[in-house]
Amino acid sequence: HGTSKINSKGHLEIGGCDVTDLAKQFGTPLYIVDEELVRQRAREFMTAFRATGLRHQVAYASKAFCVMAMCRVAEEEGMSLDVVSDGELYTALQAGFPAERIHFHGNNKTPEEINMALDVNIGCFVVDNFIELQLLNALAADKGKTVNVLLRITPGVEAHTHDYISTGQQDSKFGFDLSNGTAFKAVEAAIAQPNLKLLGVHSHIGSQIFEVEGFRMAFEKVSAFAVEIRDKLNYTFTVLNLGGGFGIRYVEGDTPLPVATYVQAIADAVLTTCKGADFPLPEIWIEPGRSIVGDAGTTLYTVGTSKEIPGVRKYIAVDGGMTDNPRPALYESKYEAILANRANDATEEVVSVAGKCCESGDMLIWDLNLPAVQSGDLLAVFCTGAYNYAMASNYNRIRRPAVVFVKDGKADLVVARESYKDIVGNDLIPERLRKQA
Ligand code: LLP
Repeated sequence: HGTSKINSKGHLEIGGCDVTDLAKQFGTPLYIVDEELVRQRAREFMTAFRATGLRHQVAYASKAFCVMAMCRVAEEEGMSLDVVSDGELYTALQAGFPAERIHFHGNNKTPEEINMALDVNIGCFVVDNFIELQLLNALAADKGKTVNVLLRITPGVEAHTHDYISTGQQDSKFGFDLSNGTAFKAVEAAIAQPNLKLLGVHSHIGSQIFEVEGFRMAFEKVSAFAVEIRDKLNYTFTVLNLGGGFGIRYVEGDTPLPVATYVQAIADAVLTTCKGADFPLPEIWIEPGRSIVGDAGTTLYTVGTSKEIPGVRKYIAVDGGMTDNPRPALYESKYEAILANRANDATEEVVSVAGKCCESGDMLIWDLNLPAVQSGDLLAVFCTGAYNYAMASNYNRIRRPAVVFVKDGKADLVVARESYKDIVGNDLIPERLRKQA
């Protein structure tokens, strides 16, 4: 997919770059991002929305993969940006991302984070709870500012990829409950705050969703709420945000819909519901993360050791693991992989791919079909663009890998591999523990 192919040498090539060359130049493990595919995914959302005629913002959920180069691509493609911490906000600002196109999420924003965002005049705060509502208003008042606000509501629709639970009372740490009147009170409170300008509400129903039904259900609840607010409080929402969660294909059997199908389904729901309720067409915002960067990422590893337990299984170990991709250990996520240096080799064996962490749970892939693996082979694991580098850790004091963007035969380093100095960079030895000369 994307610009990936197997070249005449039997090597994996991404963005016109032979990955065996990338391994030599940048070392492994290496995150490789197909920049053209990221741009293509972004354009699919933007084009599909434009076709609906609705006013819209597609905010890239930067939690999926937030580095400065990615913020540049997001801006160039006309997306807005969803950030959830001072770190993501700082990254975006450092990259020159326009503050007015940044939306700030999170269920426990600190006063420092709020002030930082107020100082640069970000586009919108997605307020999660009453304490934040008061705090934001007070801090905005201190600065003599009025800020745009969406209220995060829990619509009582929860997506589990294949099925949806529609519950009256949702057990979630996020947002104002719609079913028990909390969301209504939050709207009243927000309208009453002089330094907040309430634009509308936000809902997010889950991640890695393969169907449109959940979005439709969520929109119905959200729009019914908008009508209730108009009728009872004489206040009209101008923005409805439906969050992210559009699924991608990690392995065979994953059946995401084309981006345009999700967008069209949302637009249909908006147009019919609003027309039926005689409600002015709101601006629709969405927040895709995984579906923008997920399948554009590939992680390249070098195979080191192996262990065969006769009649049981063969383990091969790579030079990374749960530190660069914690998703298999955390969520039992499945991935596909190939031998990037011998993709056409006809030999066959079944191996399980282990990481190098001192922990049995550090397994990346179970029972993978590969050509007969040798030490020194390169393993390419696909679809690692989202929630991999973003969730990487230094467990076992392993240095985080480098990230390269590849495009048109060129590879650009966008995150340098961590150094040993980075590893001890924040360590301090108290005087009394220092080694005497
Ligand atoms: N908007 C909100 C409010 C969210 O909470 C999320 C994801 C998104 C947008 C983006 O969702 P996406 O389009 O990427 O599915 N670490 C997990 C995923 C956690 C998603 C959290 N929220 C994983 O690796 O699967």
